[in-house]
Amino acid sequence: MQKVTTISEIRKAVKQYRQQGQTIAFVPTMGNLHAGHIKLVAEARKKADKVIVSIFVNPAQFGVGEDFESYPRTHLEDSEKLKKAGADLLFLPTVFEIYPDTTETTVSVAGLSTIHCGAYRAGHFDGVATVVSKLFNIVQPDRAIFGEKDFQQLIIIKQMVKDLNIPVDIIAVATARENDGLAMSSRNGYLTSQQREIAPKLYLTLCQARDRVIQGKESIQSIEKKCQAELQTSGFEVDYFSVCRASDLVLANEDDHHLVILVAAKLGKPRLIDNVFFSKK
Ligand code: PAJ
Repeated sequence: MQKVTTISEIRKAVKQYRQQGQTIAFVPTMGNLHAGHIKLVAEARKKADKVIVSIFVNPAQFGVGEDFESYPRTHLEDSEKLKKAGADLLFLPTVFEIYPDTTETTVSVAGLSTIHCGAYRAGHFDGVATVVSKLFNIVQPDRAIFGEKDFQQLIIIKQMVKDLNIPVDIIAVATARENDGLAMSSRNGYLTSQQREIAPKLYLTLCQARDRVIQGKESIQSIEKKCQAELQTSGFEVDYFSVCRASDLVLANEDDHHLVILVAAKLGKPRLIDNVFFSKK
């Protein structure tokens, strides 16, 4: 696996792939890789001749007081995992390489970026949309792989690619979970052992809410309220627990069929997010 840090090096490598007629799948990450990320790399492996992975802890998507400084940086271990997973090229740029002092432009997917997580993390999704569009322009892949774990991020990227006519196919991969259902996340490492025992309750509550929405005996609002209260009782500080239309993340009404339940909740220091999506008959 080749490792590069500059845009000119990656452009050179990509040019060679293209001259050989090879297709490229791209997996953007912030590193501290776990089995969820590796699932994305495995999917990329199936979808193109060459797999490029980036590791870049993007300062633009962290708010004041968030964990940009302390975000785990584990490049050596990550690099070993990527080699085993069959990645061809690892792009490890510095902050200055991505954001030289002259940077002026931001990409913002208006409405979608201000709801749900966007309402609690001002500017977060602008940071994500900006860095992903820059990475797409740098790598110029045929397809890019994203996890369903970050459902709102996935919908925003799909909207951005559509709105800006970016010629990259977006492929979604199902959330990788621990045996007890907890969605894998780089931030799970922040949980104390006691919090780690409580954490699976997030996914369990999502699954129970899904079943109750499908049964249709209670109103959506009542299900949301009760689930939120249950999580609070278990020790979570819930930002939102919302049943939404899967296509555009607008709050669902009883006539909507393709739904996603989105949750974000703090458990001590870490803020966990998760979701389930499903169709109602
Ligand atoms: P990061 O949190 O490192 O995640 C990189 C990719 O891995 C994202 O597409 C995310 O949805 C996916 N992922 C994370 N946990 C997963 C899990 N348990 N199962 C499946 N996929 C999972 O998301 C980001 O980085 C950044 O916002 C980024 C897109 C790289 C832009 O900076």
